[in-house]
Amino acid sequence: MCGIVGYVGVREAAPIILEGLRRLEYRGYDSAGIAVLTRSVIQSRKKKGKIDEGLAILLNQHPLQGHTGIGHTRWATHGAPTDENSHPHFDQSGRIAVVHNGVIENYDRLKERFMAAGHQFRSQTDTEVLAHLIGDHYAKLAGVDFAENERLTEAVTRALREVIGTYGIGVVSADHPGIMVGARRGSPLIIGIGDGENYLSSDTSAIVAHTRQVVYLNDYDVVTLRPERFDVISLGSDTARVQISQIEFSAEASEKGKYPHYMLKEIFEQGRTVENALRGRIDFDEVTAKLGGLNLTTAQLRAVDNIVITACGTSWHAALVGEYLLEEFAHIPVEVEYASEFRYRNPPIERNTLILAITQSGETADTLAGMREAKRRGHPVLAICNVVGSTIAREADGGVYLHAGPEIGVASTKAFTSQVTVLVLLSLLMGRIRMLSSQRGMQLIRALEQIPAQIESILSQDEAIKRIALKYAGADDFFFLGRLYNFPVALEGALKLKEISYIHAEGYPAAEMKHGPIAMIDEKTPTVILIPRDGLYDKTMSNLQEIKARCGPIIAIVTEGDTQVRALVDDVIELPATLEPLFPLLGVIPLQLLAYHIAVKRGCDVDKPRNLAKSVTVE
Ligand code: G6P
Repeated sequence: MCGIVGYVGVREAAPIILEGLRRLEYRGYDSAGIAVLTRSVIQSRKKKGKIDEGLAILLNQHPLQGHTGIGHTRWATHGAPTDENSHPHFDQSGRIAVVHNGVIENYDRLKERFMAAGHQFRSQTDTEVLAHLIGDHYAKLAGVDFAENERLTEAVTRALREVIGTYGIGVVSADHPGIMVGARRGSPLIIGIGDGENYLSSDTSAIVAHTRQVVYLNDYDVVTLRPERFDVISLGSDTARVQISQIEFSAEASEKGKYPHYMLKEIFEQGRTVENALRGRIDFDEVTAKLGGLNLTTAQLRAVDNIVITACGTSWHAALVGEYLLEEFAHIPVEVEYASEFRYRNPPIERNTLILAITQSGETADTLAGMREAKRRGHPVLAICNVVGSTIAREADGGVYLHAGPEIGVASTKAFTSQVTVLVLLSLLMGRIRMLSSQRGMQLIRALEQIPAQIESILSQDEAIKRIALKYAGADDFFFLGRLYNFPVALEGALKLKEISYIHAEGYPAAEMKHGPIAMIDEKTPTVILIPRDGLYDKTMSNLQEIKARCGPIIAIVTEGDTQVRALVDDVIELPATLEPLFPLLGVIPLQLLAYHIAVKRGCDVDKPRNLAKSVTVE
């Protein structure tokens, strides 16, 4: 949520920062801005709207020159998306500029203090107050003799000690060309290590084209970057831990390639990404899964009596599939909690409960807070996460990476199928140390192995799915129905459609329709129903008939060769046969494609849907 890029070096900063911001735009696109140091003054350009419609044009008309700079792409929290509220923000002197992700909770009290002292504010943002606070400390440090221009770092450090809230920040001062200060608490921030140049970013994708060597900063770290070196101190302890890591993916992996949108690219990657999630993780001899990163012994896993899964959005839907899987294969009771509720609800958690945090980004604020609360209470916490080095991945006791590569499209797609794949593996592992027979385990493994090719075969039906999408693109409301394993898929299908096409859509367990929602059904309200040939086929068929009896158009997702449903409904998408618990891995694909094609037909910006952000690092 919001993106930060900063550069110190010998090259022109503005083009590097602008390109970085383009790569970060999926984190927020309400507005964008840049500040660059030019001969002891800071000049900034900022503009409401998407980068190529605002900031890039402005920079073209009024270029910035200089070798030190910071940039920001915004998802508005405090203050509407306007030019004035865009970052960077300046202190009272106009000589210190700040970009900020997060929320300064005590900004109003600080603002009152500065207003009483005669400060002028140009925006409604909390960030501008932080800039004034840093500037105020900087002014107070005048005359103090600092080694190697440490005055800016000291001012930032003192300001942050007064701040309540979350932040990832980049700060430059007109007095210190070639110096940039960054700090984090609750918002991700990364140092990119170059050759005679250094970068600051909220996300690896902004800098991977320049360097693969990074340092993931920890909460309370404050870094001072210069072209030839960087120094990290910690506000929280005497010494900061600095570990250099390698970015695993290439710059090309975060390009759109031949696809018009990231979302479509990511949908089409799923055969491969599911394969990546499986690679090297199946033990055929023992008929189980090998998940070394869990950092728990078999005895510790055997001692788990309950599991609580906490997540948000699409990851929460994957968690629901996980609940069904773990209960069926491992017979462990599972609770799935919205992270935003879990963190404040204070539920009783039994001893021997394992907490599982599921998150694509590893930075979702609510998931992180829920996980920290569980850790504080002494429960082991595992993360199922995609982004290597993310805060949740680093703070968990162990976990499993998805290895799905960067997911840039705001609407999550490939992360869902990878998360479900990992949850199948976890269920297999937990099941096999309990009561799951090797025959049933092997059946699951064999079916799992076929999934990547089956996904490819569904993707090859894209044209046919697109035709169906175009037929219904004018609808105002949609329903998505499924039972058991397909209920979370129905929720996910509805979420995808809402997120990117702004059509009102609801997902329900198919049989629950008759308890209220069926009142909404008429000839203009299409229903997508997942009805594979599974144990509840006949029951779901009755639910389908109930929709049909009320003249609702029906798009059915069925198992290949199903003629019975075909005879009843308006449109059919056939999927290869698989085991019931694995159907979500296939069933979600046509729903992603339907949402995608409908959104494109309606002229929506698929990769940057209104009001949303990819990674929600505020509460
Ligand atoms: C945001 C995104 C969703 C995502 C959710 C959880 O709302 O727009 O696509 O599912 O956050 O994100 P996470 O990174 O924790 O999976």
